[in-house]
Amino acid sequence: MGGRFFLHSSYTGDYAIVFINNINVKKLVRHTAGMTNPLGERLSPAGGVRLSGIDLAQKLAPELKDAIYAALLAHHVVVFPDQVLTREQQFLFAANFGEVEAHGVHRGEMKRYGVAHVMSNLGPDGQPIFRVSKAANYHWHTDKPYHPAPPMLTTLYAVELPPSGGDTEFANMALAYAALSEEMRRRIAGLRVAFRPAFDNGRPAVDHPLVRTHPDTNRKSLYIGNHSTHIPGLPEAEGAALLAELLEHATQRQFVYVQRWQPGDLVMWDNRCLLHRAVVDGAAGKYRRVMHRSIVRGSVPV
Ligand code: SIN
Repeated sequence: MGGRFFLHSSYTGDYAIVFINNINVKKLVRHTAGMTNPLGERLSPAGGVRLSGIDLAQKLAPELKDAIYAALLAHHVVVFPDQVLTREQQFLFAANFGEVEAHGVHRGEMKRYGVAHVMSNLGPDGQPIFRVSKAANYHWHTDKPYHPAPPMLTTLYAVELPPSGGDTEFANMALAYAALSEEMRRRIAGLRVAFRPAFDNGRPAVDHPLVRTHPDTNRKSLYIGNHSTHIPGLPEAEGAALLAELLEHATQRQFVYVQRWQPGDLVMWDNRCLLHRAVVDGAAGKYRRVMHRSIVRGSVPV
């Protein structure tokens, strides 16, 4: 996918009108100096691009789908503002890129999660609560790394947000890998890392390369984060110390893009080269935060 698209922009001062093939995506988008990809506004040196003027409720033309996927490969996080999407429409958008995974099967909730599933901070009484468990998405993680073929991408749509806060942070694992010392790169070359869902100790662990190569860009990145249990072949304490050291290195601020949500934002991210977490802040248990999520299956990491 990708490669077969043509983008151009006409600039008026700080603004650009963006065209993708023959589609004029109409809205003016702010142009960031030094931006290499004219498709929208680049959001941080660590990643992120905002693509305005695209209605994801409509069926995507093949060229537009390719351009969106190319933007994902280039920027890892793609933000589509001003969306009005049913769960079904979000599911159909995600399905452009592959098989949408069922979610909640372990809770017997297959039916409820047939389309984009609801992620909220609401308790059974409908009131916001703050739940931090070992499995909570407040910890740095990549989605479902305990699957043999973990997700390639996730889409998350902001339905209800707190008046402030409720951000999501993304850490760029390719930048983090590139910034490791030669010595560390040599030390971790060829190692694997085992993952098991933090919500289910009974499941067998699945292991993946600790340094994975992106199937589309060939870039190497660290594959770490919550749900990792150990490094096969290393003594437990040594493996745990190595994973903690890598996580600390990889989540330094220079590798992080912070998504400050607006209602109607749909954010799509590449799980193959990012960690992410929902930020714990004063709003966490106080105000409603309701998101809809769809996850697209990926391939076996190599
Ligand atoms: C996730 O971990 O998939 C969702 C993150 C969030 O709710 O901000």
